[in-house]
Amino acid sequence: MRIYVSRGLPADLMTRLRAAGNVTCPDRAAPPTEADLLNELPGHDAAVVQLTDPMSAAVLEAAAPTLRLAAQIAVGLDNIDELAAARHGVAVTHTPGVLTDATADLTMALMLAACRRVVEADRFVRAGRWDVWSLDLMTGMELRGATLGILGRGRIGRAVAHRAEAFGMRIQHTSRTSGIPLQELIRTSDVLSIHAPLTTGTWHLIDQRALMAMKPGSVLINTARGPLVDELYIAEALETGPLRAVGLDVFEEEPRVHPSLLNRGDVVLLPHIGSATDRTRHRMASMAVEAVEALAAGEPLPHRAPR
Ligand code: NAP
Ligand code: GLV
Repeated sequence: MRIYVSRGLPADLMTRLRAAGNVTCPDRAAPPTEADLLNELPGHDAAVVQLTDPMSAAVLEAAAPTLRLAAQIAVGLDNIDELAAARHGVAVTHTPGVLTDATADLTMALMLAACRRVVEADRFVRAGRWDVWSLDLMTGMELRGATLGILGRGRIGRAVAHRAEAFGMRIQHTSRTSGIPLQELIRTSDVLSIHAPLTTGTWHLIDQRALMAMKPGSVLINTARGPLVDELYIAEALETGPLRAVGLDVFEEEPRVHPSLLNRGDVVLLPHIGSATDRTRHRMASMAVEAVEALAAGEPLPHRAPR
């Protein structure tokens, strides 16, 4: 079996893949472009891919004569054209569950950082600007008693709600199948935290209008996918609109961040590290390897993405 690995994995996992088949792993640190994948993927039976890799309809069509599996090292699948994969008989696997706790923890870290001005205060101290303790120095929003709006109450949304309850927050949510209407969630939440997948139905779900309709003095947190929020209008919603602070782990065109956000003290920016603990990242990659091993052994594929 010929296995394509878009970027190198930890040595123990590469060893397991080599035991399952002949491995091609281009020597580069950057993610593959669509042109790279069009050039490199055809001829392989399985691909271990990451959320940075554009598994477009064109790539899947080019690889389709041999490709039987795209094993994604992430739970989100928005970089993979799943309809094209199904059309060409390419199975897709992903890594649900294993990263839920790490991502929920990071969401709470971002929420606390944005609400309590942690990064801004750190910069303030380092800049030598702290000369006296005062009653109103760096005051922020208290989580106890605040209402948390969860947009997308799936695995991560529920895990965030569970943690937030321990902080004394009141929880409400919106999903497609349960909860309150989105407009009500936006209008009444002190903190809005986004946990829905990126799909054609969620792209710019939080657009300029929604940003401007948020509760006065509220905080926006996004650890799902950047394009759920229209990034262009976040600075305006902070400057002249209702937002007090924003915490972002994800962006519309990663790794680019809209320049209007870069120099603001009321914005906390993280480089898409929701699941980034040593253990979780290794387990995610291991789940992708398990899928390849199952394919090589002719066994049912674990971790199949729901259609
Ligand atoms: P999940 O269990 O599938 O949860 C997603 C939830 O979103 C579902 O319960 C779904 O509920 C809801 N949903 C779908 N479309 C919606 C819509 N239009 N409006 C409102 N809710 C909607 O997935 P998960 O494991 O929690 O992961 C969620 C997302 O987090 C992933 O897709 C990924 O993009 C992101 N993520 C980011 C990081 C990071 O490093 N920052 C790490 C892991 C995951 P209904 O079906 O009831 O609508
Ligand atoms: C990370 O963003 C993931 O979808 O797993």
